[in-house]
Amino acid sequence: MSNARISVDPDRPIGGIDRRMYGVLVEHLGRCVYTGIFEPDHPTADEHGLRQDVMELVRELGVTIARYPGGNFVSNYRWEDGVGPVQERPRRLELAWHSTETNAFGLDEFMEWCRQAEVEPMMAINLGTRGEEDAINILEYTNGQVDTEYANKRRANGHEEPYDVRMWCLGNEMDGPWQVGHKNAEDYAYLAGSTARAMKMVDQGLELVACGSASWEMPTFGDWERTILDLNYDEVDFISMHRYIDPDVQDRASLLAAGYDMDRFIDGVIATADAVGAKHRSDKKIKISVDEWNVWRLAAWSSIEHGFATDDWPEAPERIEDVYTAADALALGGMLISLLRHADRVKTACIAQLVNVIAPIMTEKGGRAWRQTTFHPFSIGSRIARGTAYDAVVSTARTSTERYGEVDQLDAVVTWDEEPGKGSLLALNRSLTEPVDLSAALAGLGVSRVVEAQILAPEDLDAVNTADDPARVSPVPHEVYLADGVLTTTLPPASWLAVELA
Ligand code: AHR
Repeated sequence: MSNARISVDPDRPIGGIDRRMYGVLVEHLGRCVYTGIFEPDHPTADEHGLRQDVMELVRELGVTIARYPGGNFVSNYRWEDGVGPVQERPRRLELAWHSTETNAFGLDEFMEWCRQAEVEPMMAINLGTRGEEDAINILEYTNGQVDTEYANKRRANGHEEPYDVRMWCLGNEMDGPWQVGHKNAEDYAYLAGSTARAMKMVDQGLELVACGSASWEMPTFGDWERTILDLNYDEVDFISMHRYIDPDVQDRASLLAAGYDMDRFIDGVIATADAVGAKHRSDKKIKISVDEWNVWRLAAWSSIEHGFATDDWPEAPERIEDVYTAADALALGGMLISLLRHADRVKTACIAQLVNVIAPIMTEKGGRAWRQTTFHPFSIGSRIARGTAYDAVVSTARTSTERYGEVDQLDAVVTWDEEPGKGSLLALNRSLTEPVDLSAALAGLGVSRVVEAQILAPEDLDAVNTADDPARVSPVPHEVYLADGVLTTTLPPASWLAVELA
């Protein structure tokens, strides 16, 4: 048993937690859209073809923003294919994931889904095969208020009111050689910059996200961000970063340190962005959009990716349907702590993806929907970790990992929301063998009561949830004590604790 102490200085907030911290990616990939959120023949589907069993889980997950339509998909997508009468929409070869896109679901259906889910749309535009003109056209279709061609097309399609989409991604992972229309940093920087300028000529208040690096391991990481921001510091508001942690290529102790990995990457992006800001003598701080993050058995996927046949372009095939273990959920909980710890700069984050494809929600075609293990830390965080993030000073033992050496055994973040006077403590015990006695001094925040404490402390770290056993890995109530503003409890080895405070 080790000891850990947490102290929080109420005068040292990290920053406000943007509501967009709890985003998702909805991509036309595999069964995320088709037979995921959209399945007109499903018994629970409404008149728009939207699965209401999935909708309920999305609401429970606490999603605040959804990035659409990709991902890699967007870089060969013509958004016009997906609007207008369904029977007139073309079928297309979809190059990113080697499938047939029927276009039965498109922009207007997505907006309807967002409306029902009470989720903000975050659109990605195609800067792979397209450019400024397409960006302006789709912007006119979604947001146009006056009498112009694309705004009128939206009206003709039955959508009188503009959707008023505020956040736009200037392409997707343009640094990746796998991307349709992949570019070097200079070429992308010029295209992103001129697209951003054109879009802001339409609406200066748009929030634009430039592509950062597809991962920390990209050989261009750092130089890429520097080039993009140096040329476009005034035009863009966010730089993106994508982070997937692969459990199959590391020891389990390293997997539980996924938050440490996320810390390093975010800190690297901040350092690079701020170096450019300093060079420009700018007071502006570039925000970070972690618009893809998750646990993903990527090596396993990459090893089969090359088997696509030229005469086989399936519709909505089962692709990348990772089944998450209890250990994966702990890793994801750790990554969430890292995101919240960076709440001053990370203003948008999207778990990738939402349904079926590396997703917290799984479905059967025509059948059941259930929560993966990773659903739980996300949904709890979204529900209780709001308001302001505080610097939790943690005094803790260290634990060994193969990948990162020694890391803190206990990782934690504390949040507090003045209105309604509620907060949270999220904590991860990264040790696989040692419990930790925790004492957290929270009086300074005005904490007087524990509303609820839940823990993910799986006995079997390989346990998974399935359609037949959907609640095998679920959080359970946990005993915590609060006296004079000091919270005490014991975290078993490999556990993620979430305490709601008031
Ligand atoms: O989320 C799966 C894929 O991962 C996305 O399409 C792409 O952006 C990333 O490489």
